[in-house]
Amino acid sequence: MTQQVYDVLIIGTGAAGLSLALELAQHANIAILSKDSIDAGNTSYAQGGISAVLSEDDSVESHVEDTLIAGAGLCHRDVVEFTVAEGPERIAWLIEQGMPFTQIPNTEQYHLTREGGHSHRRVIHAEDATGRAIVTTLSKKVREHANITLLENNITIDLITGKKLGLPTTRCLGAYIFNRETMQTSVVRARYVILATGGAGKAYLYTSNPDGATGDGIAMAWRAGCRVADMEFIQFHPTCFYHPDAKSFLISEAVRGEGGQLLLPDGQRFMPQFDKRLELAPRDIVARAIDHEMKRLGCDYVFLDISHKSADFIVAHFPNIYQRCLEFGYDMTCEPIPVVPAAHYTCGGVLTNQFGQTDIEGLYAVGEAASTGLHGANRMASNSLLECLVFAHSAANHILQHLTDVPKPPHLPEWDESLVIDSDEEVVVSHNWEELRHFMWDYVGIVRTTKRLQRAKHRIDLLQKEIDEYYSNFRVSNDLIELRNLTLVSDLIICSALLRKESRGLHYTLDYLKTSPIATNTILTPDNYG
Ligand code: FAD
Ligand code: SIN
Repeated sequence: MTQQVYDVLIIGTGAAGLSLALELAQHANIAILSKDSIDAGNTSYAQGGISAVLSEDDSVESHVEDTLIAGAGLCHRDVVEFTVAEGPERIAWLIEQGMPFTQIPNTEQYHLTREGGHSHRRVIHAEDATGRAIVTTLSKKVREHANITLLENNITIDLITGKKLGLPTTRCLGAYIFNRETMQTSVVRARYVILATGGAGKAYLYTSNPDGATGDGIAMAWRAGCRVADMEFIQFHPTCFYHPDAKSFLISEAVRGEGGQLLLPDGQRFMPQFDKRLELAPRDIVARAIDHEMKRLGCDYVFLDISHKSADFIVAHFPNIYQRCLEFGYDMTCEPIPVVPAAHYTCGGVLTNQFGQTDIEGLYAVGEAASTGLHGANRMASNSLLECLVFAHSAANHILQHLTDVPKPPHLPEWDESLVIDSDEEVVVSHNWEELRHFMWDYVGIVRTTKRLQRAKHRIDLLQKEIDEYYSNFRVSNDLIELRNLTLVSDLIICSALLRKESRGLHYTLDYLKTSPIATNTILTPDNYG
């Protein structure tokens, strides 16, 4: 079979993958893959905006300090300083690409909003749908670029490395992909491979993430031999809209940033009892406070109320959120809306350095799939899109400096389907998918205990065994690939959580309530795992 060969293969079309592709494309030929349509990743759903030091009364030092405080002692200061310092230039780059950031009416100035943990207004945004504007802006350029081949509906099954093939090199040489339309598998070879595959929110029953957030890149990197870091730190966003039909709909933290208050069903405000920063405390604190109140009162949700602001203000600042709530019967200009916390962001991921390099030569990871050291034990709001842009830029520079150091890989073995048959038991996949997401929510959620984590570990071991067996016997499908990855990533989350004998940031356990005086990252290595 003909094999496609490129300088760079980018897996993922979110903020990280699209910006990386555009930065490289002048000098390299690129393939960029999305397992779904180009706009299906988490980026399209981002609301609040991108944090950067953009006003005169703000400073790099202040953004760094806020990030370190939210990260609960586990951020790497050098990485935070590097990322924050790069912020304004990356925003300028986005504006050059045509990004329509919201301006203050009748001025040339961009509007900056505020979110949890930030001591200044520093979140630049495009109304309340910043991510959609990023994807629309960048994907247009990607589609038009002669050096970029866009492959939608192509899911990567696994990475191909020299080590797996028993070659003298351990380099990453390409990937096996499965076309979801033609159901064919093929090989893509490249000098450099980038994982820009996003996070794993779908490990949980309730999540703000869209369906594809199944941690594929983290799982593929792990299977290929990369270390992963800080996987126990799963961020729960405090305010997702509560409605049986409103799947994954987030109510941006910017609503609280602009004055929204959290209320109990009887109308009482409760954040003053939990933190002096009130509704704008870092997310771990607000989500835990809501969880505590919901459990204490036995209620299914709390309320978020911004109706004390004028209707004009609310509709101008949050046109999409306002409209969406209205579709479900809530008018946020005159009444509180029901909200609950939901899994939102994977703070850990594939361990990388400042250039996005992983443990495997030729393999990079950027965006939510990576663990760069920026977020520590809890990501501060709107620092994720910033990280996507900064590390995509840094990886692009590094790759371009070394582009021709390595030849394009030789012909690689095809995907072997000789020993598998079509599945006659698809129910195994759907059943296991449901079971996984339920027990992750119940046992590995906002408040943990060792016993619950052990229960989850027991179940995940059984699931992994069943899925591995299924995978060895049946032809791959999109759902099977995703389930296999999500199960592996869930196992990494559970194992990391079991190793952390303290409460810190997003990892809160009733068995170790104190925070240890020494902060250490949880780093898992495939070779020592079992
Ligand atoms: P994604 O945007 O998730 O893209 C992943 C890509 O990888 C997709 O194209 C997907 O199809 C592809 N992919 C995955 N696996 C495979 C595979 N096996 N084969 C082929 N392709 C694959 N952050 C902020 O900073 N500010 C915000 O305001 C903000 N709001 C948010 C609101 C919501 C509702 C959510 C869910 C997140 C929000 N975040 C926000 C977080 C932020 O949006 C994400 O962390 C960020 O967009 C991730 O970008 P990414 O490029 O790493 O991955
Ligand atoms: C939001 O708008 O609340 C999401 C911001 C983020 O996740 O950074």
